[in-house]
Amino acid sequence: MEVIVQKTPADMSRAAAREVANVLNAKPNAVLGMATGSTPLGLYQELVRLHKRGELDFSHVTTFNLDEYVGLPITHPQSYHQFMHENFFRHINIPPQNIHIPSGTTNNYPAFCAWYEQRIRDAGGIDLQILGIGSDGHIAFNEPGSSLSSRTRLKTLSKQTIDDNARFFERRDDVPVYAITMGVGTILDARRLVLVASGKGKAKAIAQAVEGPVTSMVTASAIQMHREATVIVDDAAAAGLEMRDYYEFIYAAKPSAPKS
Ligand code: GLP
Repeated sequence: MEVIVQKTPADMSRAAAREVANVLNAKPNAVLGMATGSTPLGLYQELVRLHKRGELDFSHVTTFNLDEYVGLPITHPQSYHQFMHENFFRHINIPPQNIHIPSGTTNNYPAFCAWYEQRIRDAGGIDLQILGIGSDGHIAFNEPGSSLSSRTRLKTLSKQTIDDNARFFERRDDVPVYAITMGVGTILDARRLVLVASGKGKAKAIAQAVEGPVTSMVTASAIQMHREATVIVDDAAAAGLEMRDYYEFIYAAKPSAPKS
């Protein structure tokens, strides 16, 4: 696993955008896995900026979002459909039919989840999956206890996640209790993972995910099993990393490393 420590959230976003841009430059019809939350916002803004400057083209890109709240119509201001359209899709040139976001209003969740998994396979699999991390160590909505080989399915949110996400809703009671989410196994199938985290509220979860044991209690720790995972954190989110100096040494030495 590569760990990149950047000074500020803006530096973190730019570093993550470079990873996405590298994939798109090498493969213009890449399949991207998208994440929601406040952390990847800066990354999306950076990608939009590169697109507006004519440096990134999304006309052949396909996307799959990680998750969606159950019960929120796609027009709800806090639905992840709205989030993605407002913050990213409506600013770039991706064809609408190439966008996939789990449905939080289907009348048959098992069938929808199986279809979503099949759509990912039909698209050739995810080339690069963007990830955030919950303060309880979750990726997507894979809460503590989620099987590390889970697939897309319905999950009950943890109290911690409901508390964390209550800031976006008028009342805590308005936060949905269920979500539909890609599984940890679905995420690990992506060819490349880029996890972003900023702020001191994520320091403990990052330390557990990067340096702790692989455990379903911290589902982000499963990325230790992935061969191409990059964790990009700002200074505050790196605060709990014991091996920070070593990660910085590796990163500084990277440009001079033999290429073949
Ligand atoms: C939600 C999302 C996760 C995201 C997490 C952290 O729970 N399902 O994908 O990583 O929020 O969000 P934030 O970046 O706002 O801290």
